[in-house]
Order: sequence, then C-alpha cells, then structure tokens
Amino acid sequence: MHTTKHIAVLPGDGIGPEVTAQAVNVLQAVCERFGHTFTYQYADVGAIAIERHGDPLPEYTLDSCLAADAILFGAIGHPRYDNDPSSPVRPEQGLLRLRKSLGLFANIRPVTLYPSLVHLSPLKEEKVRGVDFVIYRELTGGIYFGDKGQTPSGAYDHCVYTEPEILRIARLAFGHARRRRKKVTLVDKANVLETSRLWRKVVSALAAAEFPDVTLDWMYVDNAAMQIIQFPATFDVVLTENMFGDILSDEASVLAGSLGMLPSASVGEKTALFEPIHGSYPQAAGQDIANPVAAILSAAMLLDHFGLPAEAAAVRDSVQAVLEAGIATTDLQTGKVSRCSEVGQAVAGMVKAGVNVYETFKVS
Ligand code: IPM
Ligand code: MG
Repeated sequence: MHTTKHIAVLPGDGIGPEVTAQAVNVLQAVCERFGHTFTYQYADVGAIAIERHGDPLPEYTLDSCLAADAILFGAIGHPRYDNDPSSPVRPEQGLLRLRKSLGLFANIRPVTLYPSLVHLSPLKEEKVRGVDFVIYRELTGGIYFGDKGQTPSGAYDHCVYTEPEILRIARLAFGHARRRRKKVTLVDKANVLETSRLWRKVVSALAAAEFPDVTLDWMYVDNAAMQIIQFPATFDVVLTENMFGDILSDEASVLAGSLGMLPSASVGEKTALFEPIHGSYPQAAGQDIANPVAAILSAAMLLDHFGLPAEAAAVRDSVQAVLEAGIATTDLQTGKVSRCSEVGQAVAGMVKAGVNVYETFKVS
C-alpha cells in the first residue's frame, strides 16, 4: 500500500549532515522500490543553530518537528563549547530541550552484531557470538533534568524520578521483552541511591502485576558495566535510568565493532525521533569518511515506526549485504576503505535492486 509521510530532518553538527544525507538517500530508495512518498523539511539544531539563530533549538525547528510524522536526527556538539565550561549556551541543550518538549521518555538502543564484523569486536569471538540485546534508557528525567546550579563553593545536579515516569518506560520495556526472549534486567544503584530504590519498587510491582511471564533481574550499574563485557550474550532487555543508559550504551557499542554501527529510536508523547547513538565527531566532519550505518539503521527504525516492516527489513538486509561485500568506512578496518557516500550509495542501490542482486553481490 502506498504511504505518504512527512519527515523533519535535523542534520545538526560535525558529521551529522553527511551521515544523515546517506540515511535520506536510503529512504528515497525505499520510496522508489515500494512506491511510497516521503517529504522532508530540514531545520537547524545544535552548534549550527546557535551560529545561525542564536539558539540551539530555534522555535521553527521545534515547530517543524511537531508537524512531522517522524524526526531524523544527525548529531550535535562542537569542540568550541566542549572546551569552554563557562559557555552560557551549549549545543547539547538543543537535543535535551527537544527530547523534553516532545516528551520522548524512552530511548531504545538495540545492540546487535553483524556476523561479518565479529572479528572487529575487541572481545573474543565466542563471547560476542549471539549478542542481541536492547537498551531501554529513560530519557527525560533523572540527573539530566533535575535542578542544577552553583553554590559559592561548588555545584550540584539533582537526580529526581517519579513513579509515573518509571512506570511508562518500564511498560514499554516489558512489552518489548515479551516479544523477545522474555527477560528484563533492571540496572540501577539501589545500594546507594534513593531513586534507584524507587525504580526497584515500581518495576518489581509492575512485573508481578502485569508481566508474570517475563523474568526480571536486577543488577547494580557497576556490575552491569562488567557483565556487558564479560557475558554480553546473556542480556535481552536492559532497562535503566537516563545517565546509566547513556554510559552503558556507549560501552555496549564497542561490542558491535564500532560506535558508528548503532542506531536508536526515541519515543514518547509526540513525534518520535531517530538518531545514531554516536556524536558529532568533529575531527572527521566534511571529509566523507564517517560511518553512515548507524544513521541508516536509525532510518530503518523509523520505517518500523511507520508500520513498514518489510521496508525496514530491506534496509537492514541491504546494510548486511554491503558489509559482507566489504564495502565499509575506515572505522571497520576492512582491506579496502570506502567513503561515507559510497557506503550510502551501495546500501541505497541494494534497496532499489532488491534481494536478488544482493545475493549476487554477496558471492563476489
Ligand atoms: C546521547 C548523547 C547525549 C546524551 C548528549 C549529546 C547530550 O551522549 O544521545 O547519548 O547524553 O544524552
Ligand atoms: Mg551518549
């Protein structure tokens, strides 16, 4: 069936525009092959928005997100701000305000391993084989959004959670676990933090009342950091608060061989947002060397969100075929190094051509 959708595209800073351009190419290939129509509206966010509009999240950007069916997001951040702790305005504020304004309380980060990249993992092959888990990171609460400020002799960041905030993401995580291997690991620091003890109370009550068929495990975050490296294949759904999820998802990306491989979806009350988990990688900006796979796989999650699973699968299969054909950017250390745009074009070409050509490609 023919679908028409409108997408807000926020390329942002650094390598954001390059990888997002490839994700859009791939979406256009999907439209061509499956007969859909996607329209795009571009808007500034992050450092580029500060430069052009004096605000990391200008009003017109938020308006265009609110009017769209989904948001494709690149990356934000600029060294100019990283090295200036006294800067009153920061690119990251644009992303945080966007998440908050759209009520995007759940950030979903799948961690999967492509068979052809297993050798790139810093872990032994037998450890990473079969790794397939998904992190549910709470995205609009906790220490990121609590009261913060300075005192005459210091500074503070408050960590606050309410029961409803925990319940709504926990329900999504358990619902997902039910469609997977039926296991949720709640990661917290309940031996120290009051908010973590609230997470345990709320999540175990929910599990008992609504999800008796799903196994619930608890793990302290320091232990989880170790277990993700030592026994990564034992995780199914990881549920955690904002900052723990931020840290653990970067750690988990190493399993996949490169930070440039992992996509994410942020869902909640208003327009859902899809973004690679990597940052703006300013050193590589404008050089056409960044890995577009995380952005392209984020576009696949966007297609799932649109209720187009066959299209999403076509994108994922094409990415896999391209990687297996050895077409990859420098971070993936294949013999032959391809450019960001070449990888994007190869994936788009596979999508347009369909699975048959990809079979031929794989053999060659
Ligand atoms: C992420 C990023 C952001 C975060 C930054 C850019 C504010 O690291 O999406 O993981 O900490 O949430
Ligand atoms: Mg992060």
